[in-house]
Amino acid sequence: MAEYEYETHDYDVVVVGAGGAGLRATLGMAEQGLRTACVTKVFPTRSHTVAAQGGIAASLSNMGPDNWQWHMYDTVKGSDWLGDTDAMEYLAREAPKAVYELEHYGVPFSRTEEGKIYQRPFGGHTTEFGEGPAVQRTCAAADRTGHAILHTLYGQSVKNNAEFYIEYFALDLIMSEDGQCQGVVCWKLDDGTMHIFNAKMVVLATGGYGRAYFSATSAHTCTGDGGGMVARAGLPLQDMEFVQFHPTGIYGSGCLITEGARGEGGYLTNSEGERFMERYAPQYKDLAPRDYVSRSMTMEIREGRGVGENGDHIHLNLNHLPAEALAERLPGISESAKIFAGVDVNKEPIPVLPTVHYNMGGIPTNYWGEVLNPTAEDPTAVVPGLMAVGEAGCASVHGANRLGSNSLIDLVVFGRASAIRAGKVVDADAANPVLNKASVDKAFDRFDTLRNAKGGAPTAELRLEMQRTMQADAAVFRTDKTLKEGVEKMTDIAAKIDDMHVTDTSLVWNSDLMETLELTNLMPNALATIHGAEARKESRGAHAHEDYSDRDDENWRVHTVSRVDGNKVDLTYRPVVKDPLTTEDEGGISLKKIAPKARTF
Ligand code: FUM
Repeated sequence: MAEYEYETHDYDVVVVGAGGAGLRATLGMAEQGLRTACVTKVFPTRSHTVAAQGGIAASLSNMGPDNWQWHMYDTVKGSDWLGDTDAMEYLAREAPKAVYELEHYGVPFSRTEEGKIYQRPFGGHTTEFGEGPAVQRTCAAADRTGHAILHTLYGQSVKNNAEFYIEYFALDLIMSEDGQCQGVVCWKLDDGTMHIFNAKMVVLATGGYGRAYFSATSAHTCTGDGGGMVARAGLPLQDMEFVQFHPTGIYGSGCLITEGARGEGGYLTNSEGERFMERYAPQYKDLAPRDYVSRSMTMEIREGRGVGENGDHIHLNLNHLPAEALAERLPGISESAKIFAGVDVNKEPIPVLPTVHYNMGGIPTNYWGEVLNPTAEDPTAVVPGLMAVGEAGCASVHGANRLGSNSLIDLVVFGRASAIRAGKVVDADAANPVLNKASVDKAFDRFDTLRNAKGGAPTAELRLEMQRTMQADAAVFRTDKTLKEGVEKMTDIAAKIDDMHVTDTSLVWNSDLMETLELTNLMPNALATIHGAEARKESRGAHAHEDYSDRDDENWRVHTVSRVDGNKVDLTYRPVVKDPLTTEDEGGISLKKIAPKARTF
């Protein structure tokens, strides 16, 4: 057994991750007087939320008529009827409140002439339950909305006495014999010391796992650490086959060009200079949802109408927009286009390609952020002491496809919801749990084994194999053949985790070891993704299966629940929540209105 000395820290709540969801949860917990720690592997304002550009959706009606029912309808339709209706209602209803809170905390939103929060159009956001024109619902701080939110939430959390443990890497959850989460074991990266956070509630806010793919808009830190910890604790992941490709990653680098660019009037063209989205989505054109636009772009390239020397990408045109508008509304992407594509957006189109951007799946939760461990008898069984929020979680509000700008609102609405719930279920006067020593020992043993791994597979090589396989076999379009090959390859690749090679055994700033630990987190996420995709014999949202081109509500309007053990994946299914929180009589949306139908734009 590995012997590591460690320091123990007792808190009411420990939040793991300091992106938008983690900070909103931390702030909400601290505001209520709960003793709250936030543990994060990067400095809080370097978390990936800082890269969120276009904005945050809420029906404020600042630019024209809007209401939460329209927002909810768009989210239901955007999800291709796989989202949980209660969670989607909660998101749309609470969104305005959550945004005004951000405003009052100090987020420097862009403003209208009247001084209201500026809102721009985004894909899939409409009026009149999808019958009316596109709506301006996405609240923006130029094209640096995530940056503005993150800095504000960090400042507010510090002001409210939340305690930050910065550059601490969370290794594993501490679970009691009877399945309660009791805390988390961490490695402090800058001095090599070990730490145990004992908590009455652990909140996983560790973000997505975009880096399971070769080309992603996500930061290199997006390694699905929460999903990895949960899988090792024997808990499931949900709906992992639904991976969002953002239509406009810069060709080559994958760097994000916000959908806000199309919201401000930008449009896509093929090699014939044609605005092809008019053919695929006659009503909303370039502002159709992302799965739709990414598929349309891929079709254009496949049919020989891609641009560039190899005909393998698409043009995003902004050069018809006034220079002042670009400078005021889209300064960040104007700079990115210059740096990463060598393009002056005032003069030339930006070369773009659908790029992995977001994971709709994650750790299953209810709309309070409580982690679920569904069984056949109880599909909504809660894991005591454990919550998950933000991209790490799956509430599920995005179902099979997320609408642009519904991510930032998900972070703050559900970060806030987890704090409201913790205020009810965490007893600040109770003693902290007596830790399960076997669970602590297991975490240190795993760490030590990896630290001293001397097998034949260097981490970087194994990671690249995984990323190339996921990119090729779980892409925008999928077939039985690619998915079967993907499952076979990923099964072999994941087996090599037991044969890894770590060169550096030191404990201080050991990036070799940290990347190895991250790879052990990426791997279960990737495995669950490819297995879930191979098993789902229909097309829905971001899962476009060429051998089953239609959505099949009778057999597949269900959540995929995957349990990963080593390189094995066990799949079961749980029902989608179909009932909203309120009835039409109570001011809610009628079931008839949100009944499944063909999803056209
Ligand atoms: O396009 C964007 O600005 C990204 C927003 C989002 O993913 O919600």
